[in-house]
Amino acid sequence: MQTLLFTPMDLRGVHVRNRIVVSPMLTYAAVNGYVQDMHTIHYGKLAYGGAGLVMVESTKADPRGASTPRDLGIWKDDFLPGLTKIADTIKAYGAVAGIQLGHSGRKARRSVPWEGRTPLASHPGLDHGEEWELVAPSEIAHSNGWYMPRALSIDDIETLIEGYGAAVERVKKAGFDVLELHAAHGYLLHQFLSPVANQRTDKYGGSDENRLRFAREVLDRIRQSWPDDKPLFLRVSAVDEAGWLVEDSARVARALKEHGVDVIDCSSGGMTPGGSTVNFGAPAGYGYQAPYAEYVRKHADVMTMAVGLIIHADQAEAILQSGQADLVALGREMLNNPNWPMDAATKLGIDDPYSMVPPLYSFYLQKRMQADFGGRPSTWREGIETESVPSDDAD
Ligand SMILES: Cc1cc2nc3c(=O)[nH]c(=O)nc-3n(C[C@H](O)[C@H](O)[C@H](O)COP(=O)(O)O)c2cc1C
Repeated sequence: MQTLLFTPMDLRGVHVRNRIVVSPMLTYAAVNGYVQDMHTIHYGKLAYGGAGLVMVESTKADPRGASTPRDLGIWKDDFLPGLTKIADTIKAYGAVAGIQLGHSGRKARRSVPWEGRTPLASHPGLDHGEEWELVAPSEIAHSNGWYMPRALSIDDIETLIEGYGAAVERVKKAGFDVLELHAAHGYLLHQFLSPVANQRTDKYGGSDENRLRFAREVLDRIRQSWPDDKPLFLRVSAVDEAGWLVEDSARVARALKEHGVDVIDCSSGGMTPGGSTVNFGAPAGYGYQAPYAEYVRKHADVMTMAVGLIIHADQAEAILQSGQADLVALGREMLNNPNWPMDAATKLGIDDPYSMVPPLYSFYLQKRMQADFGGRPSTWREGIETESVPSDDAD
């Protein structure tokens, strides 16, 4: 059977074996910004399971932008060996290696989620050995009880933009083929776009156009270093709890595709505490953000990626078939089942469903599938009423 999910695609010069993307997810496993063994295992496992593109978590070009003391860094060359190992491992298993560049701005310096995600004082030892001040477009704290950021000066902004450029040079050296700029979830780029977080009176604030300037300049600097044959994704909060509308996102997407953005990754929320999975109080349901990807795709005439509670194979396929998005990204479902892509292939009935996983899996699972008489039993009871698996492979 032909599916869109398993139809390969070319993004600029980068060939992706299917349209399944591992959404960027912080692992909170770095030590002073450095890659640990856990990262290689984690990202390797996700590539091994058959995803087309594995996007490495939000990695910081500026130590002040780390959301927690356990974020990955890319602000100095010392990080290159670890990042190269991640990229090499992902590519060794046939997936495209992508990486997200993030900066948390006024939402930086917090404890990890399972320790409450609360603002931390700037204590030495947890500060990557660097100054860890909070910076943002304006001196406006994220919320009550959060630390006040310092408003970035024009000089600071120029230095920051140059830092993105230097980080992109490292992304290239490490061997990643897709780059995503994080402009969602109430973080620095989103803060600049938002009239709530950005109340500057200089050329970076005051009007829609001025609030867009920082993103334009960061993207231009990124594109200066990022090769023309490599795709650039932009993650946005398509809507937020502070008044940002999907129409605003379409406007931003139209403007920023002129700066070399190929795919708009449509997430939502994060501008206020508690708003990180935006649903305006309602429980998030299946594919709750896919309509944003659809709107932006239609109104900005740009490729989009849908994300958010995409769980089932036929659900992912329907998102692509109905033209809501060009790619689907899965986050927590990939933590639940890193082999989701190969599992989805069997469920959608594609020919040779194990073709995207290494022979260790494909050889044995193909045999097991045949032993199950043309497919898996749908229940355990149905299974035991049929013959058992031949035992000649018990080596
Ligand atoms: C543990 C964890 C870490 C995350 N870290 C990031 C991140 O680094 N960058 C980002 O843009 N989104 C991050 N997210 C959001 C996910 O990429 C995704 O958008 C969200 O989980 C919704 O998709 P899902 O329902 O498939 O999990 C994270 C989510 C989780 C669960």
